[in-house]
Amino acid sequence: MFITLEGPDGSGKSTQAQRLAEFLRQQGCPVLLTREPGGTPIGEQVRGILNNLDNTAMHPRTEILLFQAARAQHVEELIKPHLEKGDLVVCDRYADSTLAYQGYGHQVDLAVLRQVVEYATGGLKPDLTLLLDVDSEVGLNRRAGGGDWNRLDAYELAFHIRVREGYFQLMKAEPQRWVLIDSNQPPDDVQEKVRQVVMARIEKRKSQIKLRD
Ligand SMILES: Nc1ncnc2c1ncn2[C@@H]1O[C@H](COP(=O)(O)OP(=O)(O)OP(=O)(O)O)[C@@H](O)[C@H]1O
Ligand SMILES: [Mg+2]
Repeated sequence: MFITLEGPDGSGKSTQAQRLAEFLRQQGCPVLLTREPGGTPIGEQVRGILNNLDNTAMHPRTEILLFQAARAQHVEELIKPHLEKGDLVVCDRYADSTLAYQGYGHQVDLAVLRQVVEYATGGLKPDLTLLLDVDSEVGLNRRAGGGDWNRLDAYELAFHIRVREGYFQLMKAEPQRWVLIDSNQPPDDVQEKVRQVVMARIEKRKSQIKLRD
């Protein structure tokens, strides 16, 4: 089973992914915890290029393709082999981030993005995607380390709001894959909800497999 965590900046994806993986391991499930961009040695090198503040000349198309390059490697080298072994894969961001950030946030043509994402992933889709949603000011505040969010310019807030709305659109298009989690709550409460959703989905899959046998 392939589980991804999505949501705007500072919504608690990394915090919750880590805690979910620990919890599932305690339940006896073999778990791969991974993240995008990155996850593999090649992917982590690409992440370094994407995060390097010296790379101000990077063109938006270059950026989009670098994300997909890291993703292609991630799918083939890590995610697919673990899924084939029967492991649970918990991934902090995946293909939906490209659609939400580059598509809805930067307003790049969604049809084109869907094609490059399809190419990068070889069509591999998550079984379950948790949308950790926070109010835009809350998310920006968290990321700024609790500082005064007014220091962030209006562009950043507007971008953040477009990304958040984009996630809602993606969820609406595939309601069976997505579950909305209110991440304005304290981390323990969010984790409780995350566990409930994931355990319910695991139980459902087990009963479906039994019925098939
Ligand atoms: N539910 C919460 N309530 C308050 N603070 C939180 C909560 N969840 C996470 N935080 C804090 O907010 C900050 C961002 O959390 P985290 O890194 O998990 O978010 P993220 O979604 O992974 O962010 P990014 O998109 O930037 O990777 C961290 O300092 C974390 O401790
Ligand atoms: Mg994170």
